[in-house]
Amino acid sequence: MTLEFSLGSGAADREDTACAVVGVYEEGLSPAAAVIDAASGGVIARLGASRDFSGKIGSTLVLHGLAGVAAPRVVLVGLGARGKFDARAYERACGAAGKALKRLPVGSACAWLPELDVPGCDADWRVRACALAIDHACFRYTATLKPSDPEVPRLAKLVLVAGSEVARGLEEARAIARGVAFARELGCLPPNLCTPSHVAAQAKTIADGHAESVTLEVLERADMERLGMGALLAVASGSATPPKLIVLEYRGGAADAKPFALVGKGVTFDTGGMNLKPTGSMEEMKYDMCGAAGVLGAFLSAVEMKLPLNLVCVVPSVENMPDGGGYRPSDVLHTHAGITVEVLNTDAEGRLILCDALSYTCKRFQPQALVDAATLTGACVIALGAHASGLFSADDGLAGALLAAGEASGDRAWRLPLWNEYREQLESAFADIANVGGKSAGAVTAALFLSRFTEGTPWAHLDVAGTAWIPGRKGYATGRPVPLLAEWLIRRSAA
Ligand code: BES
Ligand code: MN
Ligand code: ZN
Repeated sequence: MTLEFSLGSGAADREDTACAVVGVYEEGLSPAAAVIDAASGGVIARLGASRDFSGKIGSTLVLHGLAGVAAPRVVLVGLGARGKFDARAYERACGAAGKALKRLPVGSACAWLPELDVPGCDADWRVRACALAIDHACFRYTATLKPSDPEVPRLAKLVLVAGSEVARGLEEARAIARGVAFARELGCLPPNLCTPSHVAAQAKTIADGHAESVTLEVLERADMERLGMGALLAVASGSATPPKLIVLEYRGGAADAKPFALVGKGVTFDTGGMNLKPTGSMEEMKYDMCGAAGVLGAFLSAVEMKLPLNLVCVVPSVENMPDGGGYRPSDVLHTHAGITVEVLNTDAEGRLILCDALSYTCKRFQPQALVDAATLTGACVIALGAHASGLFSADDGLAGALLAAGEASGDRAWRLPLWNEYREQLESAFADIANVGGKSAGAVTAALFLSRFTEGTPWAHLDVAGTAWIPGRKGYATGRPVPLLAEWLIRRSAA
């Protein structure tokens, strides 16, 4: 579920809305806040003077029943210092507004935040970023919970006032919000329900919803055997639930235009296999399919925007379990690409399912660019934490475009090296390559492993292990890297 967005143009004191949302700088009021202040006889200015509301970035205050103001509630949103108000601060303020709105018993609200000046950002960007930040904050997981009290209204509609012409921004916000919600709902779903078959069924809902432009093919175990996908099959071998290789194709571009390709890691639960993860490391491994959820969400966004390009989305989905029939450390696997792999650790399973999916995608579709997303390494979480996804690419143009798309969408990535010097860490005495590279530079050696299976194709890898979900009991899937990928595709289709 996403919020329903629309554009408004009313005055902040007169708009007929259950809740008006306006910004306040540390130094003074935004234009919309000044309108409400004037209509209400100076209430907001007095709250500033008394230090009840200082305008600190990320702070909010809900006011009720202001005389002279049509809306029964006003949410003040702190914007921080005027001189430091940039795109990141704007997104943060919009997110804080969303958190305040989530707690209120209102079905609709109207935000004047997109009217604010944000250096380097136009009205389309401001509308989109505000809509997405508030929508993100208002996300609710529902799949396995009792229905909430229908008597209490929940925010469902959001009106955005931008003060100037906006067309694209709203459409993009709708499509990206759907992609993000898709990824978050699938990511959050428990692993007894979110099996590879369920992931394939979700891909089918995308295809069925856009039958005019999207086709779906699901390869089964027998197909994978025929294609020689020994690595993907090995990871699946310990699980009672069958593996799926999901292939979605969208045709929005010229019939002869090479497609873009997205590939995502879809491990629906990662126990580590024979190299079983210890307590404390396994609990959140239902999120190990967030790369898959992210590329499916980005695919959905692109399709909903009807982007004029061709796009394929390939998802290998398996469960990594220990079992008498499971694969072991020291097994040598024969991949679809013909490269042999020595398994040194069955917990390095993501690269094993991806290598077969990547070489298959390169061979079958010859994409003009391929990006994969995967919750691939704990090492990437250590390196970059939750603020940036790890980006790896030998193609400087592609890397630059992805970094810029991440910056513009507030879904940032940071580049790490793919230098050949690290390659010797993957050497094996028993196969062409080993599946782990030792303790140091774990995110780099994982990416280097993948690079062997995309040679000749412009390729980038996003390690989203630190960004795809918020850890902890009350954490959720974040929907990343949907905004980054959707923005990259928007830009590629405009180019
Ligand atoms: N899914 C994990 C990576 C992961 C760990 C993501 C923690 C998010 C948080 C992956 O399959 C894995 O187990 N990787 C190992 C690789 C190692 C065995 C070389 C890791 O990172 O420890
Ligand atoms: Mn693992
Ligand atoms: Zn994993």
